Amino acid sequence: MLGRKVPAVTFRTRVRDEAVGGSNPYRWQDVTSDDYFVGKRVVLFSLPGAFTPTCSTYQLPDFEKLTPEFRALGIDAIYCISVNDAFVMNAWGKSQGLENVKLIPDGSGEFTRKMGMLVAKDNLGFGMRSWRYAAVINNGVVEQWFEEEGYSDNCDSDPYGISSPQNILAALKSQKLAA
Ligand code: BEZ
Repeated sequence: MLGRKVPAVTFRTRVRDEAVGGSNPYRWQDVTSDDYFVGKRVVLFSLPGAFTPTCSTYQLPDFEKLTPEFRALGIDAIYCISVNDAFVMNAWGKSQGLENVKLIPDGSGEFTRKMGMLVAKDNLGFGMRSWRYAAVINNGVVEQWFEEEGYSDNCDSDPYGISSPQNILAALKSQKLAA
């Protein structure tokens, strides 16, 4: 995975635009992989589903809280991607009161599939979702990779630790010390 360029994908996002009018003024906006990744050093983390317990209680809020520490270590943005559509991802972001982490809707799973991280979660009635992983991506190229162990379809457990913000921060800090 290291040194690989992220897949070129167009994400179908929904953005607020008062010009649309009415009580729900949102419109579609296409955002490409280049828009998200070119010219930036970012942390991308991917999880099995919006609103799921570990993701909502620990992973996303902890990345949100720890964003200043990532910025101090040369990270320009933090992205959370999930195989969920833009409506679900927007509702999740709103419920979490996000100000720092940007959510990326990979509704069709195209990015996740091309990253080699798509797994079946039919055992939970989820269909195809993302295995949990995170990466430091520098100008669109994978610089560091943090994948939970046991990549598999219909996994009984939901491993979480390697892709936690605490673990990634520890890695970034130790690299800074060694540099
Ligand atoms: C969780 O984040 O807790 C979770 C993720 C996928 C399936 C079930 C739970």
